[in-house]
Amino acid sequence: MRTTGLPVAGVNTALDIEDAGQLAEWLRAKGWLGAHEALVAEVLAGGVSNRTVLVRRAAGPAWVLKQALPKLRVPTDWFSSPTRVHREALGLRWLPQLAPPDSTPRFVFEDPDEHLLAMEAVPQPHANWKTLLLAGEVAPDLFAQCGQLLGTLHRAAWQRRAELAEVFAERAFFESLRLAPYYAYAAEHVPPAAAFLRALIDRTRACALTLVHGDYSPKNLLVYRSRLILLDHEVIHWGDPAFDLGFALTHFLSKAHHLPGRRAALTDASRAWWRAYNQTLGALPWRADLEGRAVAHTLGCLLARVAGRSPLEYLTPAERGRQQAVVTRLLDTPPATIPDLITAFTACIESTD
Ligand SMILES: Nc1ncnc2c1ncn2[C@@H]1O[C@H](COP(=O)(O)OP(=O)(O)O)[C@@H](O)[C@H]1O
Ligand SMILES: [Mg+2]
Repeated sequence: MRTTGLPVAGVNTALDIEDAGQLAEWLRAKGWLGAHEALVAEVLAGGVSNRTVLVRRAAGPAWVLKQALPKLRVPTDWFSSPTRVHREALGLRWLPQLAPPDSTPRFVFEDPDEHLLAMEAVPQPHANWKTLLLAGEVAPDLFAQCGQLLGTLHRAAWQRRAELAEVFAERAFFESLRLAPYYAYAAEHVPPAAAFLRALIDRTRACALTLVHGDYSPKNLLVYRSRLILLDHEVIHWGDPAFDLGFALTHFLSKAHHLPGRRAALTDASRAWWRAYNQTLGALPWRADLEGRAVAHTLGCLLARVAGRSPLEYLTPAERGRQQAVVTRLLDTPPATIPDLITAFTACIESTD
């Protein structure tokens, strides 16, 4: 992909890719853009931990550049090493071999000095799945696809565990961006849930079964030509696949909580998602123990997303309080299965509506 062999001297470690002039100069200096090739750059909104810029070029498909920020754009001070962008690049390199065809953007390049990567842009028109869901658009087929995509990934990576377990062994970002701010923080702030969450952290750390995306949420899934495309692989690691299940189901159930008029549609679709995941996963030696851990991660994430360091912004204070109360109650006798959990969560929410 590199078109010229220009020297790499004078690397500007303070590059800000949101500055179109700086970006064009840097891309030309690095040889990613021809000396006279035109570029149109557009800053993409939405990310809190990265600068994200759409780059349209005269020749070839548009790119999205992502540059990791050392300080996240959140109200409280939250720092994370920008080297995490290289975890995402690793994910982008491998996922095409593990996920269904065309379900991740094509990787273009990464730069170790500026902590950025480039991938091909998903063409317009596309929509963010979270936006569609919050607008009440619940398409059962997308839920089934979401289950299939995850089941394909978990299965395919496990089949290649001999080579991949080591490639994805690094878990530091999963620790600092998930276990600490979600489970450990919630454990400190919700004493009745502390023992449950601490045990969940220990079990998660001890589990190393297959590739875990770690940020498997509707916000990171774009809908393009009725197909889901998965983004944002910063916390990808070798670990407990039940984390992805609990993380995703938390988003579905929290939306079911927030949107009473779409609650039945969202819970039905969540059941379809779970069925599709299981059908795709097929028979695996660790399958029997997966569901109990998925229930635990769902309860943990449902709580963490109202009482952790990164609360779901669309839930009102009253909804956050109710979700915390409902989950704390469910922790006493956790449901045995995912369908039971879906039923119990919505029944409890409705009994306190
Ligand atoms: N390859 C891509 N094609 C089109 N849009 C993208 C692409 N990658 C990211 N985006 C847009 O940028 C937003 C933020 O990207 P994401 O990778 O989720 O970063 P963050 O880690 O900041 O959440 C996405 O929600 C999407 O709208
Ligand atoms: Mg994202």
